[in-house]
Amino acid sequence: MTRLDRVEQTRGRFTGPPLTPRTAVIWSVLRAELERRGGTELTVLDVGGGTGGFAVPLAQAGHHVTVVDASPDALAALTRRAAEAGVADRVRAVQGDGDALAGLVEPAGVDLVLCHAVLEVVDDPVSVVTALATALRPGGAASVLVAGRAAAVLARAMNGHLDVADTLATDPAGTAGARDTLRRRYDVDGASALLRAAGLVVEEIHGVRVLADLLPAAVADGQPGALVELERALAGRPPYRDLAAQLHLFARRPA
Ligand SMILES: C[S@@+](CC[C@H](N)C(=O)[O-])C[C@H]1O[C@@H](n2cnc3c(N)ncnc32)[C@H](O)[C@@H]1O
Repeated sequence: MTRLDRVEQTRGRFTGPPLTPRTAVIWSVLRAELERRGGTELTVLDVGGGTGGFAVPLAQAGHHVTVVDASPDALAALTRRAAEAGVADRVRAVQGDGDALAGLVEPAGVDLVLCHAVLEVVDDPVSVVTALATALRPGGAASVLVAGRAAAVLARAMNGHLDVADTLATDPAGTAGARDTLRRRYDVDGASALLRAAGLVVEEIHGVRVLADLLPAAVADGQPGALVELERALAGRPPYRDLAAQLHLFARRPA
């Protein structure tokens, strides 16, 4: 039985949102942390948290969540979503740039920090990760989701764009240049090194969307439960993990 299987069996105390290939593995890891903290109310910081896909369920579970995001539209949607869910008092929306995070949050005041799909677009990921680590209390945890380079190389090649695949594979940052929507992509070693350099200890690494983006829509839509289960089964197992569209790293600031 894998760690994720054990966590799923304890699901009763925190029912998050419906699980999808994009979220199932991340919620399993987060749920394990919430269980580990024994039901205490946590202070959560979600950097680039957007419309609150993680923030609102965490607030519904009783935690206090601050979302820092650059987009006023996303924050407006977050505020509406939190109000509709009845947790407006536990969700704080802060417009701000992740690159200036150090000036927006108190040091050592956060139990859990989320930074999902953000490090690939900010100016300076090193300073953002340093600020995340600084925001954490000793013993606090970071949930970091980054774009995977290998999946992007394979996807471009399978679509016939061999030149772009070659550029993505060889560019130091894993970007295809000025027209690429992402400024960088990661492999497991690079993402781990980034977190370690900020003083965090990487505890778990999973692949998110190992298969989901590769399947015909008819298969993904026709067998959603089976797909989520297979994603969960492969998420922690190299080489499948390392080929995922996104890499999820769970790290901790030493106590
Ligand atoms: C791809 S979305 C991810 C949203 C959410 N974290 C999730 O995983 O569903 C990226 C989010 O980061 C925000 N963002 C982009 N650049 C940012 C920056 N420099 N500082 C803060 N937020 C930023 C965007 O507004 C958007 O809400």
